[in-house]
Amino acid sequence: MPEGADDPDTTRALVRTTNYVTWRRQGGWDPMVVVRAKDSTFWDDRGNAYLDFSSQLMATNLGHGNEAVVEAIVRQARALPYAAPGFATPARADLSRALLGVLPKGLDRFFYSTSGTEANEAALKIARVATGRPKIVSRHRSYHGATAASISVTGDFRRRPVEGLQTVPGTVFAPDCYCYRCPFGLTYPSCHVACAEYVDDLLECEGNVAAMIVEPVVGTNGVLVPVPEYLPRLREITRRHDVLLIADEVMTGWGRVGAWFGVDRWGVQPDLLTTAKGITGAYVPLGLTATTAALHDLFRDRYFPHGHTYEAHPLTLAPAVAAISEYRRLDLVAKSRRDGDYLLARLREIAARHPSVGDVRGLGLFAAVELVRDRTSRTPFNDGEDKLAGRPLVAERVAAAMLKEGVYCVAWLSHLVIAPPLIVTRDELDRGLEALDRALAVADDAVAPGPPSA
Ligand SMILES: Cc1ncc(COP(=O)(O)O)c(C=O)c1O
Repeated sequence: MPEGADDPDTTRALVRTTNYVTWRRQGGWDPMVVVRAKDSTFWDDRGNAYLDFSSQLMATNLGHGNEAVVEAIVRQARALPYAAPGFATPARADLSRALLGVLPKGLDRFFYSTSGTEANEAALKIARVATGRPKIVSRHRSYHGATAASISVTGDFRRRPVEGLQTVPGTVFAPDCYCYRCPFGLTYPSCHVACAEYVDDLLECEGNVAAMIVEPVVGTNGVLVPVPEYLPRLREITRRHDVLLIADEVMTGWGRVGAWFGVDRWGVQPDLLTTAKGITGAYVPLGLTATTAALHDLFRDRYFPHGHTYEAHPLTLAPAVAAISEYRRLDLVAKSRRDGDYLLARLREIAARHPSVGDVRGLGLFAAVELVRDRTSRTPFNDGEDKLAGRPLVAERVAAAMLKEGVYCVAWLSHLVIAPPLIVTRDELDRGLEALDRALAVADDAVAPGPPSA
């Protein structure tokens, strides 16, 4: 044991008894002790290896232990670990140049922070202050962050415990583009993308809307891939109403969906784009809010009412430059698209064998397996209320069965999120899928019994 290190049981006990754990009841938390990680694998304190089938929290897109990124952190720590946001630094210039080469056209003004939440807080503030309008349109199945403004535009159940306690007014929720559970009960393409058209009417009637915020592919809440017309139509509608479009690419950015950014899959140019996670491969915490020059210009002679001590922190910026080079060197964006096609085809095969699988969907190396109690009624096993009440979730039991086989996969409400590092090998993909195939027996056993045979 290295000097100063606790034995594993002490580590677990100390963390469990002295730390908060996020988004759950605090009781009953018994964390695995993770000690090491390389490529698509991490190890616990007993030497057990786990295939990381969800890139931790859909974040370690480059895999673990990328030498170029680690080196960039070390070099920057030696040269200049910190400078106040009012200074220019070489790392800041290098990253700004690198971003211009990968972000969608027209997004060329940058504000740096240290999380996706903060990236969205900045975007929402910029949109509201720039337009002088208070309202934001968001969607029900969405997550945009944990702090006041970003949780207020979050549609999912995580908003409920703090609603009215630490939220800000002004959010209007629009329906989702979720064909498996169409909020209008319609079917594509005869629906004429009613979920997008609804926004036209919503903006017409609401007034005072500064921006609409969307995850191009809804992430945690089910990897909801929109139909091809949806985002381009939202762009037309928002433009027609002079409403800004914010693309929240915290999860969909950095090759995850087989393009640098989700909006690239549909050629859509938002007014603001937020991202974090994969921007550094999650090795250091960096958030980015990118805007058009037109928005930036509005603050040329007007006070910009935002900032953090850690804005443009050099230690967060230098590894992002290295990460962007690594995405390019390893051609990970194209690989994600190729492997994603394979992943989705394999998931469809697996789904056909399991009565508990209601739907599978995905784009690039980003996929979900949605579990249902009953395929006909499409009733999910669990929902947000179950999560808030701390009830055991069927999807979590499936994930636990995978973990026993050495595969880590994020379970959320009634689905599993499959999002391995973009460097994952075909063998690893197959191994994870085989573990999933076997683990789905747990959900199959919980499926509602069919009508008795005559
Ligand atoms: C789409 C989206 N937006 C915002 C966030 C918040 O990012 P962070 O957890 O880095 O604050 C997340 C986190 O998962 C996310 O998926």
